[in-house]
Amino acid sequence: MSEFPVIAIDGPSGSGKGTIARRVARALGWHLLDSGALYRLVGLAAARKGQTDASEEALAAIASDLEVRFDADDAGEERVWLGDSDVSAELRTEECGRLASQVAVLPKVRNALMGLQKSFRTAPGLVADGRDMGTTVFPDAMLKVFLTASAGERAKRRHKQLNDKGIDVSLPALSRDIEDRDRRDSERSVAPLRPAEDARLLDSSNLTIDEVTQTVLDWAHELIDAK
Ligand code: DC
Repeated sequence: MSEFPVIAIDGPSGSGKGTIARRVARALGWHLLDSGALYRLVGLAAARKGQTDASEEALAAIASDLEVRFDADDAGEERVWLGDSDVSAELRTEECGRLASQVAVLPKVRNALMGLQKSFRTAPGLVADGRDMGTTVFPDAMLKVFLTASAGERAKRRHKQLNDKGIDVSLPALSRDIEDRDRRDSERSVAPLRPAEDARLLDSSNLTIDEVTQTVLDWAHELIDAK
């Protein structure tokens, strides 16, 4: 097994784990894995083929054959490619999130994405965010953080994010969506959303992004310095 260190940041949608993972990775100069993007890509690829209702095997085949590439544009903004098309914006839509959550309950799809996720673990280290980074994909992660925030706070954050992008969604509809997705992610039999036994819990409801980032970086440095 690779010895490159991993920081796993798991939590429900809207907890801020994507933002925190990106900032922590940047501060440490480590690689970043947004595992949710991979599930979103499977949902999107299935939709483009008109196969969202396909069998588990067919969806797992789509996951195995994902032609995905991550890079950054001239301004340093991350971009995600599916084959030849830039799907960065489409991937963040609520529709894509819903499709991702549906394919994510399928064990064969999860299994098909395992190797791809592990391949992100390269020198000097990896910050991985998702739902099962600390429990399933990187159980030997150096640091496991379970980031939470109240459902109301998460709905408000997502609402603002979408509003800033000019996307008009009602707050109650968004809250319902977040609760439905939490339920589906927590109740599925394979790799459900739950903290690893050795995870450190961090509630971001009343903390700024800078405070959460600093807390995770302090924990990381504690462990790196102790080595
Ligand atoms: O983090 P996100 O909103 O981009 O994730 C999209 C969906 O993918 C979410 O409903 C849960 C699922 N997912 C998962 O099951 N396991 C992961 N490691 C990451 C995401």
